[in-house]
Amino acid sequence: MDHQLIATVNKLQDAFATLGPASNPIDLPQITVVGSQSSGKSSVLENIVGRDFLPRGTGIVTRRPLVLQLINRRTSSPENEEKSKRGETNDDEWGEFLHIPGKKFYDFDEIRKEIIRETDSKTGQNLGISPIPINLRIYSPNVLTLTLVDLPGLTKVPVGDQPKDIERQIREMVLKFIGRSNAIILAVTAANTDLANSDGLKLAREVDPEGIRTIGVLTKVDLMDEGTDVVDILAGRIIPLRYGYVPVINRGQKDIENRRSIGDALAKEREFFENHPSYRSKAQFCGTPFLARKLNMILMHHIKGTLPEIKAKISSTLSKYQQELDQLGGLQASENPANVVLNVITEFCNEYRTLLDGRSEEISSTE
Ligand code: GDP
Ligand code: NA
Ligand code: MG
Repeated sequence: MDHQLIATVNKLQDAFATLGPASNPIDLPQITVVGSQSSGKSSVLENIVGRDFLPRGTGIVTRRPLVLQLINRRTSSPENEEKSKRGETNDDEWGEFLHIPGKKFYDFDEIRKEIIRETDSKTGQNLGISPIPINLRIYSPNVLTLTLVDLPGLTKVPVGDQPKDIERQIREMVLKFIGRSNAIILAVTAANTDLANSDGLKLAREVDPEGIRTIGVLTKVDLMDEGTDVVDILAGRIIPLRYGYVPVINRGQKDIENRRSIGDALAKEREFFENHPSYRSKAQFCGTPFLARKLNMILMHHIKGTLPEIKAKISSTLSKYQQELDQLGGLQASENPANVVLNVITEFCNEYRTLLDGRSEEISSTE
């Protein structure tokens, strides 16, 4: 996630914290993936977080919703910060499951194992599914305090112990999450399948017909037949989306088996787009880092949208306090924490405007 955004949101949240623990009004949206089984949903989320910890693979791997709360915390040392960026174990970064209170998982491989164990415990080992979410919190200096939701993929034919109406059950599970008005939907479609048949896009449209909170993500661009590309989709000539599409390349099954690191995978992704004749000229609008920037932009819009209301509320509280203080004789309202918050919000609005000036072209479709 974008460092400037993390710093700004931290500042805002710190400011609100001075008003007391119950009054944090910045309700960041939940980022939720939707798409067919094995389209690459878990891989996309993992790349956004920048750490390896989600079960991924061919077939139905994600069989319960995973509600992943990312919590930003300050780093305790520059060494830990560096380790965290390299994906190495350090004291500043850990996971905690709601179902195992108090236990800190510093080893992200253990987090993955626990997700698998906990999935099996509620669904049986024969590919069953369950709508009961697994709740995981990740504490890290490199994340934005926000919630991501990983979901089982849409599938039609039951296998193993799956119910006969698996299609309906997964649909309902997914709709429950993406139906929330503050969900940002990552509609994931594998680029080597037909966009017109995309389950993810179809479902996203049901809850977001205007496309105001849906981003199209095209995975597996590396697996497309030679001579084909997604240029027409990116240009909005197939199924236009207001926020457009971002093509990405995640790690393939072989990379997972060889434990290729996220850093390596990102380098390979970048090289692919920069050298491919179809994408060379628009490589800056391709790949996971661009997807993350686009998400950041949408988050900024969201925060900005909630600010006027917060500002008005604080202003009225403030003038009420000031009146009371005046009656008591002479104390200055500038000593009031609400004033500090107001200043930070004003500062944020200014910073936001500067940021937006530089980046607004990125948020709309790329052509
Ligand atoms: P999910 O079922 O939608 O969560 O998909 P996963 O993230 O589990 O990925 C399914 C399979 O597709 C795994 O074997 C991944 O390695 C592979 N995969 C996902 N994205 C890509 C991609 O962009 N390129 C390639 N080559 N393989 C991918
Ligand atoms: Na899968
Ligand atoms: Mg998955």
